[in-house]
Amino acid sequence: MSLIYVLNGPNLNLLGKRQPHIYGHETLADVEADCRKLATELGHDIRFHQSNREYEIIDWIHEAREDGAGIVINPAAFTHTSLAILDALNTFEGPVIEIHISNVHKRESFRHHSFVSHRADGVICGLGTEGYQLGLRRVATLIKSAENK
Ligand code: DQA
Repeated sequence: MSLIYVLNGPNLNLLGKRQPHIYGHETLADVEADCRKLATELGHDIRFHQSNREYEIIDWIHEAREDGAGIVINPAAFTHTSLAILDALNTFEGPVIEIHISNVHKRESFRHHSFVSHRADGVICGLGTEGYQLGLRRVATLIKSAENK
């Protein structure tokens, strides 16, 4: 059993209430419950966190360096601004999947660039909160293939 970190950036605590026409009606608690259920099915454990503070996300990535096998991350607005989160992810050796609930490429041009994509092994966007499940499955696959090498 491996530990997978599922990290969420600013304003995602308001999921379900915030612009539901863009982000849907599911809350972050719903997403967490779905991720926990799937992680159990996949035989893994998860740490699920959200913060509005950049440094907390960086600290969790550092924590993942110690005991995490993979990271699923929706950095939210920090995606487009945070070189510090990219630098932190570059210190992590396991698989990293970047998630966006909305299709950022269909939205404002300032959402088209992602610092995190320079490190991510894969990016899922525009598939709603289902993207978390798919991201988790992909991280589990990558952990397994690394184990079998
Ligand atoms: C988001 C997209 C970002 O551009 C935005 O700042 C968010 C959420 C998404 O999940 O679609 O807060 O990461």
